[in-house]
Amino acid sequence: MAPPLKVIALSGSLRAGSYNTSALRAAQALAPEGMTIEIASIADIPFYDADVQAQGIPASVAALGDKIRAADAVLIASPEYNYSVPGVLKNAIDWLSRLPDQPFAGKTVGLIGASMSLLGAVRAQYHLRQIFVFLDALPINKPEVFIAQAHQKFDAEGRLTDEMTRGFIGQLLVSLAAWTRRLKAAEGV
Ligand code: FNR
Repeated sequence: MAPPLKVIALSGSLRAGSYNTSALRAAQALAPEGMTIEIASIADIPFYDADVQAQGIPASVAALGDKIRAADAVLIASPEYNYSVPGVLKNAIDWLSRLPDQPFAGKTVGLIGASMSLLGAVRAQYHLRQIFVFLDALPINKPEVFIAQAHQKFDAEGRLTDEMTRGFIGQLLVSLAAWTRRLKAAEGV
């Protein structure tokens, strides 16, 4: 049996009814055998300020960094705000990037985007891929999961009802598991 994989998931939206957070909940249920997904919140990450950093890393940032380091892989679901990454998510990534032993380095990252438009957060997701180049993370190439017209794909309780989208998320998680295990095997972990 393949060794278990721990995935830490972040949503780029703070609102309770977020389609992106709902997509992460769907992913928890769709995870392949051996994979567990924990959703971590970025709600208590303060605004990045180098003066604050000079006084010490905030506890919420350090704790999230520890969770990411302890995970085998990362899963992010994010909306698109004004054609790019929402400020709250970029801010959290910016803080995490200042940690010694930068937590995203060498981590595989699965990406999901949900928006109410026809494109499904595609531009934000490409900006995330660019950010992860600098952070030395390894975003999974395919499948690309863009949940367009998200309001038609979740029910009123936030359950993902669209079968095709459930299939794409399932395939992404299989790919995330395969690449993570391949990387770990190469590292001899
Ligand atoms: C948006 N939205 C949006 N959608 C999109 O496809 N492209 C965009 O550029 C934007 N820009 C944008 C800016 C701001 C400030 C807000 C608040 C919203 C719509 C957005 O994708 C939609 O509200 C999603 O449902 C938000 O995701 P959650 O909160 O449901 O996860």
